[in-house]
Amino acid sequence: MDKNTVTTLVSKLISAEETYPVRHPVLRKGRPITTCRFAGDELPDTFHVGGFLKDKLVAVASFYNANHADHNFIKAAQLRGMAVLDEYHGHGFGKQLVLSGEELVKKKEKITLWMNARVSAVGFYTNLGYHKVGPIFEIPLVGEHYVMFKKI
Ligand SMILES: CC(C)(COP(=O)(O)OP(=O)(O)OC[C@H]1O[C@@H](n2cnc3c(N)ncnc32)[C@H](O)[C@@H]1OP(=O)(O)O)[C@@H](O)C(=O)NCCC(=O)NCCS
Repeated sequence: MDKNTVTTLVSKLISAEETYPVRHPVLRKGRPITTCRFAGDELPDTFHVGGFLKDKLVAVASFYNANHADHNFIKAAQLRGMAVLDEYHGHGFGKQLVLSGEELVKKKEKITLWMNARVSAVGFYTNLGYHKVGPIFEIPLVGEHYVMFKKI
């Protein structure tokens, strides 16, 4: 997609399995499709947001009801599985999807949204007003991460 193209993504709630065509190539490339299933995906409080350009799903993000005792996050939600198809990076789609997810999380009366941010994505979340907390840590097979959070 041309880097100068500016367009609006349409965000819709989708099922966990509907995220796989984006989760798989972006977050679990070369690994079995079963690795796209995350713990908690099917819980009633979990929701998944898809970002569509016309009918094409190009971005996904999932939100889980999850406090974090180490950092005293209560009434909190966790963002996982944030992914934009490679050829659609840099058009503001990731940002649009996180912002629409934040609005839905707020409606559930959460006060904090947090994530385990890949080191390569820290700048993306910082740009959206998230802060790093605690030391860097390793998630096996995925890499180094920081916990990041925002009061919403
Ligand atoms: C990280 C990711 C979701 C960003 O999505 P994107 O659609 O390319 O990002 P956007 O175009 O919405 O970027 C929004 C802003 O963040 C900035 N930004 C985006 N990615 C960045 C990065 N990796 N580091 C620093 N800044 C970044 C952009 O420059 C833009 O800044 P602006 O608003 O000042 O113009 C996407 O690159 C991706 O899917 N990466 C691979 C998977 C991944 O790392 N997911 C996160 C796991 S924790």
